[in-house]
Amino acid sequence: MKRTTIALCTLLSAGLGAAQAETVAPTAIAFEEGAVAQSLTGVAGNAEEGAKVVSAKSQGNCVACHEITDLADVPFHGEVGPMLDGAGDRWSEAELRGILVDAKMTFDESMMPSFYKTEGFIRLGKAYTGKAHEGDVEPLLSAQQIEDVVAYLMTLKD
Ligand code: HEC
Repeated sequence: MKRTTIALCTLLSAGLGAAQAETVAPTAIAFEEGAVAQSLTGVAGNAEEGAKVVSAKSQGNCVACHEITDLADVPFHGEVGPMLDGAGDRWSEAELRGILVDAKMTFDESMMPSFYKTEGFIRLGKAYTGKAHEGDVEPLLSAQQIEDVVAYLMTLKD
């Protein structure tokens, strides 16, 4: 009994010590009508970092599909999706997190990529090679990048 308790305590404190411990895995997300209330990391998002992810081609590349007046100096604003000005007024933080994690939970058949999803793809290709994907699937954005982007979107008020 005592040994079990000690082992448990050691396990717990080891877990709490690791920064990763609070990160919610892509396969463990709890959706409620498309929204995700719980932070993916427990660490508040950084809006400035979020703006970088939104602009960067190699990361979110949101501007390929969305126009954002606040980022007017970033080239290549697309019009596939709606303009994101005022997104922080239209949506709650939980709704925005849900849209980012898996847009298809909010918009049926959305063209918007699911940025924090590693399972349930119908047929996953190996980027542009025409071959099947091999090995583990990494989400397009990390849990903290999702939180940063949510924080940035919350600053977009009308
Ligand atoms: C391939 C194009 C594409 C990309 C890339 C994309 N989106 Fe979208 N997004 C859409 C479309 C299309 C919609 C409209 C919903 C639908 O699918 O009907 C949408 C909807 C949204 C909405 C809700 C719009 C509203 O009414 O306010 C938000 C917020 C959003 N996207 C944020 C993002 C962010 C942040 C990124 C980058 C991390 C991103 N999107 C990347 C296509 C895209």
